[in-house]
Amino acid sequence: MKTENLETVAKKLVAPGKGILAADESTGTIEKRLKSINVPSTEENRRMYREILFTTKGAGEFISGVIQTIRQKTRDGRSFVEVLEQQGIVPGIKVDKGAKAMANFAGEKITEGLDGLRERLAEYRQLGARFAKWRAVITIGDGIPTRACIDSNAEALARYAALCQEGDLVPIIEPEVLMDGTHTIERYSEVTEQTLRSVFDSLAEHRVVLEGMLLKPNMVLSGKECPQQASVQEVAEATVRCLKRVVPAAVPGIVFLSGGQTDQQATEHLNAMNRMGDLPWQLSFSYGRALQAPVLKAWKGDTANVSAAQTAFHHRAWCNSKARFGKYTEEMETAKAA
Ligand code: 13P
Repeated sequence: MKTENLETVAKKLVAPGKGILAADESTGTIEKRLKSINVPSTEENRRMYREILFTTKGAGEFISGVIQTIRQKTRDGRSFVEVLEQQGIVPGIKVDKGAKAMANFAGEKITEGLDGLRERLAEYRQLGARFAKWRAVITIGDGIPTRACIDSNAEALARYAALCQEGDLVPIIEPEVLMDGTHTIERYSEVTEQTLRSVFDSLAEHRVVLEGMLLKPNMVLSGKECPQQASVQEVAEATVRCLKRVVPAAVPGIVFLSGGQTDQQATEHLNAMNRMGDLPWQLSFSYGRALQAPVLKAWKGDTANVSAAQTAFHHRAWCNSKARFGKYTEEMETAKAA
C-alpha cells in the first residue's frame, strides 16, 4: 500500500494554526441543535445552516478540514465539496452507522457500520472525501465500561481504519469516553488510558499505518456532574500525561472532540495543552458543538442574521487557531478576529 498520500493529507489536516470543523451530525442530533434555537429541522433548514458554515469567508485560514454530509449542495447548486475545496479545506465524511446498544451489556454501546464499508468508502472517495470519521462511545458508570465493550469498539475502529487506508482515505479514529457522569478526573483518566491502549493494540494488530491516521479523543476532565471540577491547568496536564503514555509519536496529530464543554472551555483547554510544549504530535481540534454553539446562537434561523452567524464562526475558529499555538487569551473573546 502506498501511504504517501495518506501522510500528506493527515499532515494537512493538522497544519499549524488550523483544525477541523465537525458538521456531520446525524438527522436526530442536528434536530436537537436546531430545536435549541426554535428552528424546525427541515431538510432546507439543515442545508441552509451548513451552507452558512461552509461559505464563511476566510474560514480556510483556520479550518483545515470539515466532516460533513457529502451530498448536499448550496442554494445556487454548487456541491459542498467544491465550496470547501475552493477555500483550501479538505472534505471528510462520517462513515459509521451510529453507536447502538450492545447486546448483553446494559448501558454500553457498540458502533455499527462495517458491513459494506469498503464499497461505501470507494463511493465517498469518488465524491471528493479525503478523510473519514468513525466514533465509538464508551460510558463511565457503575461497573462500566467493561473490557468487552472497550475491546469490541477498538476492534471495530481498527477494521474501519484499515479499510479507509486501503481506500486512500485518512481515518480519524474517535474513541469517545463520555464526560457525562459524576466521575472524577482520575477515573476519567484511567478509563481513557485503558481505552486508548486497547485502540492502539488493535490498530497494530490490523496493520494500520500510524503516520496516515489521526486520533480524535476526549480530553481528560472531571465528569460533568462531578462536584469537584478540575482547573484548566489540571485538565491540560492530565490529558497530556494520559496521551503521552499511550499515543505513539508516529501519529501526526491528535484532534480533540469538544464533547459537551462550552466553546470557551474547549479553547482554553487546547490552549493550555499547547502552552506546555514538548509534544510529539500536533495537538488540534475537531470540534462540533464548541465551534457551532455561537453560530447557532447568532443565526436563530433568520436570514437577516447570516452575516452575524458567519462572523461568530470565523471568530470562534480564530480563537481556536490561536489556541493551537498556545497564544489564546480571554481578551480575544470580545476582540475582532485578526
Ligand atoms: P463535539 O465536538 O460536539 O463533541 O463533536 C465532535 C464530533 O465529531 C463527535 O463525533
